[in-house]
Amino acid sequence: MSESKTPHARPNEPRFPDGPKPDPAGSHFERRIRSFQPRRSRVTTSQADALQRLWPQWGLDIDGQRVLDLAALFPGLDRIVLEIGFGMGEATAQMAAEDPHTGILAVDVHTPGQGNLLGLAERGGMTNVRVANGDAIILLREMLPENSLDGLRVYFPDPWPKARHHKRRLLQPEFLDLVAGPLKPGALVHCATDWEEYAEQMLDVLTAHPAYENTQPDGGWAPRPEFRPLTRFEGQGLDKGHVVHDLLFRRR
Ligand SMILES: C[S@@+](CC[C@H](N)C(=O)[O-])C[C@H]1O[C@@H](n2cnc3c(N)ncnc32)[C@H](O)[C@@H]1O
Repeated sequence: MSESKTPHARPNEPRFPDGPKPDPAGSHFERRIRSFQPRRSRVTTSQADALQRLWPQWGLDIDGQRVLDLAALFPGLDRIVLEIGFGMGEATAQMAAEDPHTGILAVDVHTPGQGNLLGLAERGGMTNVRVANGDAIILLREMLPENSLDGLRVYFPDPWPKARHHKRRLLQPEFLDLVAGPLKPGALVHCATDWEEYAEQMLDVLTAHPAYENTQPDGGWAPRPEFRPLTRFEGQGLDKGHVVHDLLFRRR
């Protein structure tokens, strides 16, 4: 049985009075190339319900206006990782359940996925996930303290396959500059992609950046770690015969 859908909202009209705000930091109006395309998305009734009920407790808008107190955001947890682009959040929820002592700050712009992840966390009794709404670049640039993160996860970022769109890819030297500040020395940077040529780009930019070192003695891709579950986009890539590459680097 398919779930009923809420109607589309008008642009800039908050759909959930107590939920995530559309474009909270005004990122769409910044003159900057973004790694995502603003899209209107349908939200199911159960996702809408989760957004309305759980956002005040577990959600945060990336407004670019304050530096976050991660200890207050994740009481009792002293290991915090940032996941950028969790999609529908199934893999995030599974990792949160399997590692309850690690707090996951999960960021995406995709409203249905935010509702989905909140619902999964509630149903699974996970209290170690916070869902951030907005552009991860603004979160990194304005809101995360130096030396505050124990890890970064970027699983199957949008591949932007056309050459003229490569500049939209998240994994660029400037992104690695930005993320180097909040990452603690020794923090693990874990990326995965099913786009061969993006995997090569990731390996090149991470290897060339002085703030990171490859955990693999041969300087190449890492075997897929057992702790990373199959993600939704990964499954779609595998169905098309794509090969998946994991990259595991450390902040120096
Ligand atoms: C291809 S999907 C992968 C989702 C998930 N990790 C998976 O493997 O199923 C990439 C996600 O990254 C999100 N995204 C891209 N750029 C982002 C940014 N700058 N800030 C927040 N989310 C972003 C997109 O909205 C999208 O949901």
